[in-house]
Amino acid sequence: MEMLEEQRENWGTRGGFVLAAIGSAVGLGNLWRFPYELYDHGGGAFLIPYIIAVFVVGLPMLIMEFGLGHLTQRAAPDAFAHGHKRFEFVGWWSTILGFVIISFYAVVLAYCFSFLWFSFKGILAGGELPWAAEGIEGVKKAEDFFLKTYLGHTTGSALGAIRWNIFWPLVVTWVVMYLCICKGVKLVGKIVWLTVPLPWLMLLVLTVRGLTLPGSIQGLAYYLNPSWPELAKATTWRFAFGQAFFSLSLAFGGVMITYASFLHRRSDLNNNAAIICLADFGTSFIAGLAIFSTLGGMAFVTAQAGTEVAINQVVRGGAGLAFIVFPYALAQLPYSAWWSFVFFFTLVTLGIDSGFSITESVLAAVVDKTGWRRGLVLPVMTVIGIAVGVIYTTEGGLNWLEVVGDFIDGTWGIAFLGLTECVVLGWLWRIDTLRTHANDRSDWNLGRWWNYAIRIVVPIVLGTIFFWSLFEDLTQAGGFIFDEQGNWILKNCVGLTVVAAAPVLAVAVSLIKSPVRAEQYDNVPGVKNPNLCAGRMGGFVAFCLAIASAAMLAVVVLRGNISGKIQNYFLFQSLTVAIVAILISNYIVDKHVGDYSFPSWLAGWAGIIATLDISAFLAVTLTNLTKKAPTATATHAPAEHLTGVSDVILGVMLLMIIGGLGWCFYRAMAAAGKDESDLPEPSSGPVD
Ligand code: PFF
Repeated sequence: MEMLEEQRENWGTRGGFVLAAIGSAVGLGNLWRFPYELYDHGGGAFLIPYIIAVFVVGLPMLIMEFGLGHLTQRAAPDAFAHGHKRFEFVGWWSTILGFVIISFYAVVLAYCFSFLWFSFKGILAGGELPWAAEGIEGVKKAEDFFLKTYLGHTTGSALGAIRWNIFWPLVVTWVVMYLCICKGVKLVGKIVWLTVPLPWLMLLVLTVRGLTLPGSIQGLAYYLNPSWPELAKATTWRFAFGQAFFSLSLAFGGVMITYASFLHRRSDLNNNAAIICLADFGTSFIAGLAIFSTLGGMAFVTAQAGTEVAINQVVRGGAGLAFIVFPYALAQLPYSAWWSFVFFFTLVTLGIDSGFSITESVLAAVVDKTGWRRGLVLPVMTVIGIAVGVIYTTEGGLNWLEVVGDFIDGTWGIAFLGLTECVVLGWLWRIDTLRTHANDRSDWNLGRWWNYAIRIVVPIVLGTIFFWSLFEDLTQAGGFIFDEQGNWILKNCVGLTVVAAAPVLAVAVSLIKSPVRAEQYDNVPGVKNPNLCAGRMGGFVAFCLAIASAAMLAVVVLRGNISGKIQNYFLFQSLTVAIVAILISNYIVDKHVGDYSFPSWLAGWAGIIATLDISAFLAVTLTNLTKKAPTATATHAPAEHLTGVSDVILGVMLLMIIGGLGWCFYRAMAAAGKDESDLPEPSSGPVD
């Protein structure tokens, strides 16, 4: 079903699109955040939640976003509005969060540009890096260089003065992003042939170099030796999911919806999504090998020199890994300025295409809604982006950058937004339309299980993480909004305000009437005739059951003082009732998928509430179980060698990445060899 018979700009080739989507996914997050998240949350054990996040939740959602963008040929807000005008806010919500992300992502890119420049100057100065010093003092010097000399960092919540040495690189970053996208996606489709393979090549060089350094195995032991008790913490799962969404550019910004909207009408969706997930996962995993093997080399060299610096003494999160620890480690090794140049060049090229992907999707959202010219909106957006970014270029900017980043990635931003996308499309829209649309043109087909993955499994998983971490946040020692002395915890309040303001603002923007759109939605099935609503009675019953289940859960959560027996009784009854509600509403929603009837909204809402009930049930159960579990031991006791389990983890991961990509390419080639007449007729849209 092609909804829009109009000529939309397109990528040119399949490769252009796949690389652009990989370019968006593979970014600073892979090299700057993933290795540290893995190290900090259980080493090899973190791969379990992460793989679930990428392949059980991320992949089906990516196909969903591709399907939606491709079917509607619109950026996120308009794409959601195609289902119903009321859904438009979901698209704006993700676009607004996208804008918040790009405002700080560009600042981190600005740091990368600056460090690239310092490394270049180091090369010119005969190889001396400005932060180089030996032993543990060297770490202090690298830290001082980044925090004091470069950032002029102040702790606390005050912003302080603007740092012009960050501001100008920020302007450079925005100008580069502007130049990449100003000519439209055709040019982007060409630029990514450089910005994707080049950092991969350099990452490969960094990895080979790291792995061949003496002591590298010790680094890998820190990276991969698993600490299983970490899996019992909500934070581990939350970080795994936050990282997976951030890394795949999912939900945030509606990037993948927008990118797919520029794809020509015959292009594959399912296989492309699988390739992108595998490539993104592979890049993260290999980036970790590069980083930690090099740190192993650093530990070895410092031990040899009698000034031993152990890996667990230096590794830290946030910007610390990329701008303090790794530059320090490189400074301990031969040809440090050259390697530092390679590392920051990798970061810049990795990050720039992720950066402009968000800019492009925000731009497309505004252009689709207003009909204003790209050439006008882009410069205005660039100026606004720089103006907002100024907050993070101040002396206290790094603190706020981390706060905003954590909130958007965590429970409050992404778990909630991703969940909303899935329930809206799964329960209130015709998810099967997206499946058949994707199957009609893909190298391999999705079964009906995919509908249930989007409608039930993914929301339950995301909902569980949402409630589980909510309970953890709210019960944390000292409080979440107020500290023990009753004072506001400013950073949590600001973070919460930003994430809570996004949906409110989104609703407001979606209410503004678009001058260019209106009549386009007339032919959308289900919306055409909202009165032909079927299954009202069943929907009503399911709705009552879902509410009853929610009420029982509320009793369990809010009345902590009831006896254990009653608590368990309510808990399990709520589960049973929610399952029945889901079965009824799922039946109604599935049955009324014809063009001339539309399932009752009550049935859809019953399904949504019941999936949330099940999530809350799981979260309460997990909270109870993990309360009793022994507290985790220190994650990273000094380790010299990879354990047997880590060897297995390493082997399985490499097999999965190589085997998975091999399979996808085989399917793509097999499909390309098929008779062209098997493919659906293209609409008037562009073809290669
Ligand atoms: N995926 C990018 C990374 O891993 O660095 C970051 C990103 C890009 C997040 C685009 C969100 C987005 F819309």
